[in-house]
Amino acid sequence: MTEGFIGFYLDWKELAEQTMKTEVENPSRREGGYAGIAVTGMGGSGIVGDVIQVLGWEHLSIPVIVVKDFNIPKFVGKEWLVLSISYSGNTLETLSTVKEAMERGCDLAAISSGGKLEELAHEHGITYVKVESGRVPRASMPALLVGALKLLEVKGVKLPGLSSKGLEALGRTDDALKEAADLADGLLGRIPVFVSDTKHYPLAVRGKNEFNENTKIVSKVEILPEWGHNDIVGWEKWLGPLTAIVFELGGNDRLMKFAADYLKESGVPVKEVVMDESLNYVDRVLYYSLVIGLASLKVAGERGVDPSITKSIVKYKSFLKSWKGRPGEA
Ligand code: PA5
Repeated sequence: MTEGFIGFYLDWKELAEQTMKTEVENPSRREGGYAGIAVTGMGGSGIVGDVIQVLGWEHLSIPVIVVKDFNIPKFVGKEWLVLSISYSGNTLETLSTVKEAMERGCDLAAISSGGKLEELAHEHGITYVKVESGRVPRASMPALLVGALKLLEVKGVKLPGLSSKGLEALGRTDDALKEAADLADGLLGRIPVFVSDTKHYPLAVRGKNEFNENTKIVSKVEILPEWGHNDIVGWEKWLGPLTAIVFELGGNDRLMKFAADYLKESGVPVKEVVMDESLNYVDRVLYYSLVIGLASLKVAGERGVDPSITKSIVKYKSFLKSWKGRPGEA
């Protein structure tokens, strides 16, 4: 199965280019701008919210919050933009936030490949981007991220997006496969621990999620500088078949180099992912997400598991469907 499924990663350049050309339906924006932006979505769709949050920290003067739950916080009112992302368009947590945002009179934007979210967008004139269907959410990351940035631009929120250099990097699939093979080498039978700084936390989370879903393995995320105030102690006497994967920006990232060296001294196997500094943030997040995704597929192949099937998520989603009462209430 890996042979076929890998195609959904190797075409990311084309997928991004196609989404760049996709029409934004019901384009509209709030007069006077927004008090804040809430990005709602789960899993492979929700990771886009993490990336937008980091972009917002550096480029916006309004808050960007990420909601991976049924309910949006109380302070999200009608001056806010709620951007909801669900690849299937049927994820109950995400749909619940959309309904709540409508009740509060927030401005809305949404992305899906169809489903109930598309129906709601058409019915209520929500600003909407439809992405290519027939894939799985996590393998649609470029479409969801490019689509989200397009929607924000229509809403008057301009953030730096995927550049031509980033597109070109996504097209260099031989390089990505080579980096993925290096990353995957020796990971079979080990629990990956993804370590990053705060700016690159979406990559660490993405790494964990990819190994959870594609490789069917438990994984862990640690973020610096917080790591230096708790997790660092755990490595003094660590247990278990762990391998640390440390994201470093270029060859002179002193903070992350400290973490990598410290972890090596503790005796744990360490893999350093030295990211290309010349790529912009979105380019970098997408390119290294591609590398991690391909590495997770490689280890899935070695384990003999099918990366395309996530039967436990299906089980959880059917539990939610059968849940009586409003989601979010105990
Ligand atoms: O990658 C996946 O398949 C999951 O993490 C899904 O993204 C998650 O279950 C949410 O579904 P959707 O993206 O369709 O809203």
